[in-house]
Parts: sequence; C-alpha cells; structure tokens
Amino acid sequence: MQHVETHPRRVRGEAVHMTASEKRASEISHDSAMGRNEPQIQVRIKSPANMDCSYELISEDARHKAIEEAFLTPESSHFISTPEVIEMESRLALWLEAGYPVHLIGPTGCGKTSLAVHVAKELGRPVVWINGDEAISTSDLIGGYSQMQNESVRDNYIHNVFKTKDTMKIEWVDNPLSLACKYGYTLIYNEFSRTKPASNNILLSVFEEGILELPTKFGEDRYIKVHPDFKAILTSNSIEYAGIHRPQDALLDRMVGIYADYYGYETEVRIVVEHTGITLDKAEKIVNVVRSIRDKSSDAQKPGTRACIMIAKGMAALKDHQNIDFKQLCIDVIASKTSSPADMEEKKKLVLDLVG
Ligand SMILES: Nc1ncnc2c1ncn2[C@@H]1O[C@H](COP(=O)(O)OP(=O)(O)OP(=O)(O)O)[C@@H](O)[C@H]1O
Ligand SMILES: [Mg+2]
Repeated sequence: MQHVETHPRRVRGEAVHMTASEKRASEISHDSAMGRNEPQIQVRIKSPANMDCSYELISEDARHKAIEEAFLTPESSHFISTPEVIEMESRLALWLEAGYPVHLIGPTGCGKTSLAVHVAKELGRPVVWINGDEAISTSDLIGGYSQMQNESVRDNYIHNVFKTKDTMKIEWVDNPLSLACKYGYTLIYNEFSRTKPASNNILLSVFEEGILELPTKFGEDRYIKVHPDFKAILTSNSIEYAGIHRPQDALLDRMVGIYADYYGYETEVRIVVEHTGITLDKAEKIVNVVRSIRDKSSDAQKPGTRACIMIAKGMAALKDHQNIDFKQLCIDVIASKTSSPADMEEKKKLVLDLVG
C-alpha cells in the first residue's frame, strides 16, 4: 500500500518537514546544481595509516585511485629488466595468467617486492597492498563494521513541539583482500609469513573455491564470489628469522612458489647505476665488495642489493665529508647485520682485505 501524506503539519503556513517525495525532488535538484549528474558512488575509505574514515561522493575512476592510495602500494621506479629479471617476470606473469596465486620466496633484499610490484602494475589492474606482521588479523584483510555513528537530531523549531530522532549507523569498510576479490584487483601480500597463520586461513577458500567468506556478515552478503581478474602475489623470506611463522601447508599447497635468489653480478651493477647514477666502475667496485661479503656471511647476515645501493648513495654524499672513505662506508652499511663485536671485527678485516 502506498503511503500518501494527507495532512502535512503546517505552522504559520510553512511545512515543518518535507514529505519523502519533496525531499527526493530537492536532493535531485541540489545534485544537478552541483554538477553531480554522472553516476556517483559513495565510498568510505579507511586508511590503514591513520585509521581515519571519511565519506566522499566520488566517481568510479576516482574511487579506484582513492582505494589504491588508501592501501598504498610502493612505487616501482628505477626498475630495470636484464635477461634474468625478464625470466623471473615471465614466470610470475605466466602463473598469474594460469590463475594461480604466486608465492615469491627469497632472502632479504634480493628483489622480491620490486618484482611483485612491477609485474602487478604491468597487469594493468588497480593494485592493493598488505604488509604482513604479527598484529594482522583477519579483519585487517577483509574489513569489518566500522564504529557506529550515532546521530541525534533535537528539533525544537516550534516552541511547543519537541522532536528527537536518534539514528545509529554501522558501515561495512572493505580492506585489501575483500576489495581485490570483489573488483578484480591485484593483491600484493608482502611478507605474508610474518602474519599469524590463523589470520591467513581466510585465503584458503579464496584460492581453492574462489569464494571469500566474510565471517561477520549474514545471509547472502556473507559470501563474495571472487572476480575473474583477481590475482595474488605473496612474498616471504626464505630465511627463518624471529617473527616469521611457517604458513600452513594447506595454503602453500594452493599456490605456486617461485624461489628468488640474489641477482647476478651484471644485474646488480645495473640496479646500482640505475638507482644512484654513479659511474659503472664505482658500481662494479661496490657490487664486488658486497658480493664477497655475502659469500662469506651466514644466511641471515648476507647483505642484499639494498646494501649495494646504500653504499653507492653514501659515495655520492662523500664529497661533503672528505674525512670518510669508501672502506668506512662499506663497514657502516654491513654493520647493521652483524651479530656481535667479534663478528664485526671479522667483517672489518674482510673489507680491508678486499678494498686494500
Ligand atoms: N629489477 C630491479 N630493478 C631496479 N631495482 C631493483 C630491482 N630489483 C631490486 N631492486 C632494488 O633492490 C633493493 C631490494 O629490492 P626489494 O626491496 O624488492 O627486495 P626484497 O627481496 O623485497 O627485500 P626484503 O626481503 O628486505 O623485503 C630495492 O632498493 C629495489 O629497488
Ligand atoms: Mg620486500
């Protein structure tokens, strides 16, 4: 039965409240006055950085941008492709195309994240990002109900009528996994073995049955059919550090693993030149020292490509610090990964032998 308002309340000739149809008509005319005639979507973006929530009326394109910014994916600037990098890129792209999530495993600083970001961006879909850690819970992956908003209106416009209205609003806020599953984005789950295995259980049905189950929702809203464009790249460290959890076998069984090792000499030299702009001979000198230290260090202490870039950046800054030399730069960069003063002494000796 249609509700028809027959007696709008009137005081001194003016309607106190608009009827529903009047309200709708006024909203439409307000929107067109604001130039909002294209399709608009209201989204609520929760930024993991500051946990701030804000409502915005934005277009589809802007929504993709806002989501990407909220789950900030690192830039893959200065990326270079040598034959061995291209081979890794192709393997990663092939398995993603075949419909499997790919797990990139390798030592610290060998280039896993850069490769994941580069290939994800090449796919041309928006990329969302999760950085695994001990505190990550399932709702950090899928989202949840945001805090309730309590809205009270106290209407005492007419002196002898006092009207109150309390509205409770709860809003579902998506997080990277649910966004990627719903809209077919590429998910990069960096360092996923740092997250407690129980929080990652939600991925099992996503990878196997193509269904994301939102445990706190009911009815048909509880299940999201994974979009055909959804892709997932996961990275983790091959070295057993403290704070690393062994992912459950059932999850590992549902993804393809690609083992990444440090790139070869030529590639590392090119990466250093690309990132810092130093001359080829200086880049070669740095890469030689770092690779020799790497060969002689135990797994967790091996310096990666990042160490080469750090030394090169230090060299570029040397001109303002004439009292510091190349040997000292190398020692300072590798010092962060030494286990004891005795170990430090050994590494110092190694650098002095190598550099002379
Ligand atoms: N193909 C590449 N082109 C340019 N730079 C690269 C390339 N691969 C790696 N790098 C650089 O090498 C450094 C280490 O790479 P990255 O951070 O991807 O390693 P990672 O394996 O993810 O390290 P971690 O285990 O510490 O997270 C970064 O500074 C990155 O920019
Ligand atoms: Mg990384």
